[in-house]
Amino acid sequence: MKILAVSGSLRAGSHNTQLLRAATEAAPEGVEVEVWDGIGDLPLYDQDLELEELPASVRRLRSDWAAADAILFSTPEYNGSIPGVLKNAVDWASRPVGEGALRNKTVAVIGASTGQFGAMWAQADLRKVLGVAGARVVGDELPVTRAHEKFDAQGLILDGELFDRLRLSLERLALEAIPTQTSSVT
Ligand SMILES: Cc1cc2nc3c(=O)[nH]c(=O)nc-3n(C[C@H](O)[C@H](O)[C@H](O)COP(=O)(O)O)c2cc1C
Repeated sequence: MKILAVSGSLRAGSHNTQLLRAATEAAPEGVEVEVWDGIGDLPLYDQDLELEELPASVRRLRSDWAAADAILFSTPEYNGSIPGVLKNAVDWASRPVGEGALRNKTVAVIGASTGQFGAMWAQADLRKVLGVAGARVVGDELPVTRAHEKFDAQGLILDGELFDRLRLSLERLALEAIPTQTSSVT
């Protein structure tokens, strides 16, 4: 089973991306986690672009997200909500209506911020927009607070409890994705 891991931050030293890199290590047996890095290549959503041949970055987003068994999003919080780049990617992936790459896709949301609440508002907003886009949002939030204290210089998780919670989130997501896989095969 392949889980795509999508960070809502473009920053090279992003704690959310570090969290997803850690997820590649925390993945349970039989689950491959691949960090997907295409959101920074996407144009701003413009419905007129859908009238012509789609940009390659949008085609890549739609085919990669559609092909994944599940998607794990990790979002920072910007001014109490999700970063615009992440909303932009969800908007592209939500189209065409009824056939978008997120339709019935099993997804989970985690998040990291340098503040005390671990991007809780952003996670709640992302769960909402993913649900509206047709995704099956499963599991609980995983708020990583004071994220700048949770990783070492190599980007490895310092906090063993956080690593265990990440593993549990992945196990839950993988388990939830199995019925979707089975029903699409039968
Ligand atoms: C424009 C902007 C707005 C922010 N607003 C919030 C916020 O509302 N709540 C919060 O907890 N952190 C906020 N932060 C701090 C981010 O959570 C912090 O920079 C985090 O590390 C960003 O994620 P990243 O490390 O994955 O890039 C904000 C940061 C920026 C750049």
